[in-house]
Amino acid sequence: MSHDDFPTDDPAVVTCGLPYANGDLHIGHLRTYVGGDVYRRALERLGQETAFVSGSDMHGTPVAVNAEQEGVSPEEFALDWHEQYAATFPKFNVEFDNYGHTHDETNTELTREFVRSWIEEDLVYEKEIPVAWDTAEEIPLPDRYVEGTCPYCGEHARGDECDEGCGRHLEPGEIESPVSAITGNPAEYRDRTHKFLNVSEFADYLSGFLDRLEGTANAQNQPREWIEDGLRDWCITRDMDWGVDYPDDERSDLVLYVWVDAPVEYVASTKQYSDRVGADVFDWEAAWKATETPDDPSEPAAGGGELVHVIGRDIIQHHTIFWPAMLRGAGYAEPRAVMASGFVTLGGKGFSTSRDRAVWADEYLDEGFHPDPLRYYLATNGGFQQDVDFSWEKFRDRVNTELVGTVGNFLYRSLLFAHRNYDDAPIADATSDEVEEAIEEAIEAFEAAVNDYSVRAVGDAVTDLARLGNEYIQRSEPWKLVDDEPDEAAQVIHDCVAIAKAIAVLFEPIAPEKTERLWEQLGEDGSVHEVTVEAAREGPAGDLAEPTELFAQIEDERVEALNEKLEARVAEAEAEGDHAEDGDGESGDGESDTTDESDTTDESDTTDESDTTDESDTTDDMTDIEPLSDDRIGFDDFQELDIRIGRIEEAEGIEGADDLLRLRVDLGAETRTIVAGLKRLHDVDDLPGTKVVVLANMEKAELFGVESNGMVLAAGEEADLLTTYEDAGPGTKVK
Ligand code: 2FM
Ligand code: ZN
Repeated sequence: MSHDDFPTDDPAVVTCGLPYANGDLHIGHLRTYVGGDVYRRALERLGQETAFVSGSDMHGTPVAVNAEQEGVSPEEFALDWHEQYAATFPKFNVEFDNYGHTHDETNTELTREFVRSWIEEDLVYEKEIPVAWDTAEEIPLPDRYVEGTCPYCGEHARGDECDEGCGRHLEPGEIESPVSAITGNPAEYRDRTHKFLNVSEFADYLSGFLDRLEGTANAQNQPREWIEDGLRDWCITRDMDWGVDYPDDERSDLVLYVWVDAPVEYVASTKQYSDRVGADVFDWEAAWKATETPDDPSEPAAGGGELVHVIGRDIIQHHTIFWPAMLRGAGYAEPRAVMASGFVTLGGKGFSTSRDRAVWADEYLDEGFHPDPLRYYLATNGGFQQDVDFSWEKFRDRVNTELVGTVGNFLYRSLLFAHRNYDDAPIADATSDEVEEAIEEAIEAFEAAVNDYSVRAVGDAVTDLARLGNEYIQRSEPWKLVDDEPDEAAQVIHDCVAIAKAIAVLFEPIAPEKTERLWEQLGEDGSVHEVTVEAAREGPAGDLAEPTELFAQIEDERVEALNEKLEARVAEAEAEGDHAEDGDGESGDGESDTTDESDTTDESDTTDESDTTDESDTTDDMTDIEPLSDDRIGFDDFQELDIRIGRIEEAEGIEGADDLLRLRVDLGAETRTIVAGLKRLHDVDDLPGTKVVVLANMEKAELFGVESNGMVLAAGEEADLLTTYEDAGPGTKVK
């Protein structure tokens, strides 16, 4: 079944992944929120009734661990961060209709109702499981309180998530070689009885759900593999004090796992919005509740609206497996789409809270930058699911070239000329066919972008139109016509103002404040936030105000100064040795990412933005990055490199060689022997099964008597192995 195109008659809810209330926001965190805000505004431009909600994620170990380090109660700690987030988002024009938090009464009550519904439906059972325990402190170690080795990929992982390796959610008791993240003590497993949601019961439902799910491809494809691997039931309780109490007095010793009450906040936050504006303005139940659940488990329930979740790509599993099962089990409608964004790196490396290697959200504004250029950068620099690198240089280039050079230049030259020559409009009777057609194409591109869940394409629709406008005004040269052919000149300028108006309407989702100013310059009534794409089809009002330039050029000296500042800060943090500390500390937090603060090095590989402990061991530091080469190569040169995906089948040492391993690597067409200097840097037993990137046409070489037929690619001194983001198999060419 496919969904009707937007706009539909049903209410839509766009949600953004809840940031853990545990640390400062940096610009990497903003990508999801800007993406969600752009998408919501774009839906409304199409006339889709939409609520935009989120809230702070207050519970769980990501918050408890950090609060403990600060020596304050988790509640006080989380509320403080919550208030800061609630104040920060609007500064970036991210305007939630409701921004709540998971510890408030609405969410607590609703979460308990969800769980009661599952209990009534017989979907919850009790099971004895091993729980990590710090025997010295005599305390249980749920989730991020414990670290160890992922049983699936062998990477270092935290208790509930393989954050540095395969990204899987880990159930209590699964992590191997558990160690307390607080004390560093080896942990032991003790048996405890916990509650489980019978997720495996939902296999048929989830399979049908994934067939219907829209959004980014990563959110559609990854969960299929998890289902194929076999669904496991989900432990929904934890041995902790901080959280939503399990709704059964007999087990008042348990709280619900943070991932139970977190997504319920999407519903609770919508409810708070409805309660505030009235159900006649927005009816949360019409959006969220199913009216009838069919007998066929693979069929969708009736009722509900258009639910779109905008998240970071590290929490796809929660939104495409656990959350739909939670909703279905409690009689709610299902998500229509999940848009999972890639992460943001800074100068090619992970953000690091501990090393102060970050551009903080407030800092960006304090530097005097306007929020809209950053929104543009984050929304359009690559597809939504791709990772995006931020550097001040790249930011400058895109602002100067696209915002100033293309969009701003067209608007300013057109409106200035129009204002000087024809400020009492309407200038011509109608827009010319050529320009009307171009505007129509831009509107269609915009509509397609929304239905493709592509915020980048929303931006492209506008920059393409501005490019066309520049070409049109340049070709038509109205300044040469104005004296001798005033009607022709008036037509050209009318057309340009019509294009400018269409830009205002279509660019509003990305640059809400700048387009409001443009709206005023165009002499249009009301607010650009209130209009739909229909307004782009209407000719300009014409009572133009004196234009000013909308976007400011960023000078090279500014970029240098910003980089120096960042480098000095990183050096200072390193000198103070902060990062060693944070290893334990923020480590985790998670950042999950979507907002955690952490950053990690690792993230550079997994790319999550959090920082984690490990970063403490990662070595590189911005100051010792080699300068990028100026020696360019052509595409043909690149084509000569036969780079393939491989899978390590065997790994063993080579007699007499301290560093080298003899690998057998499956390259699809054949399995090759490759010698690689990985012995001291990796756990040899963990390597089989690992996907690697191989330069297959590397000259053969003989090392310690073994012929090496290819080269395995790795990054940095630690030989961080390059691997694939999704499921490209052995033999796939890298191009
Ligand atoms: O991973 C995280 O950052 C979580 N705080 C996201 C929660 S999103 C949702 F489920 F609410
Ligand atoms: Zn793993």
